[in-house]
Amino acid sequence: MKIESQVSEALNAQINNELRASYVYLAMAAHFDSDNLKGFASFFRRHAGEEIDHAMRIYDFIVKRGGTVELKGIAVPEKNFRDPAAAIRTALAMEADVTDQIHKLFELAHEVKEYGTQNMLHWFLEEQIDEEDLFRDLLEQAEAAGDSRWHLMVLDNRLLGAAPPA
Ligand SMILES: [Fe+2]
Ligand SMILES: [Fe+2]
Repeated sequence: MKIESQVSEALNAQINNELRASYVYLAMAAHFDSDNLKGFASFFRRHAGEEIDHAMRIYDFIVKRGGTVELKGIAVPEKNFRDPAAAIRTALAMEADVTDQIHKLFELAHEVKEYGTQNMLHWFLEEQIDEEDLFRDLLEQAEAAGDSRWHLMVLDNRLLGAAPPA
């Protein structure tokens, strides 16, 4: 059955939200690369890639259901962060927004009896629980490091999967 038009429109908007998240994370990666925090940079770069995967999941679903993918513009992301904790707080707030967006999509899919879409969205519901949990944990660690460059470097090395600086 061809995808319901309202749902198709809402899923297209979600493609944009996921790509926007990817752009925000890439800006964070660039910020930390310029601050020589390679672990944080690689963490956010990896995450930027994951958000593109999320967008493509929805893209493929729309195509498979006979809908049309329509790409919209992406706003310039913020690029200056006081410290890693500030960036992670921004990330956590954005993930909470994405969770809201997925909930609204699910409600719409439920209302118009788009059962296939509901099933596809289950993956995203679970993913958002993991994402919020991940950023909450990381925020706790970054806040514990506070303004200590040394502690941030230890955390940075851990994110890089390397041994702490000697
Ligand atoms: Fe996502
Ligand atoms: Fe995410």
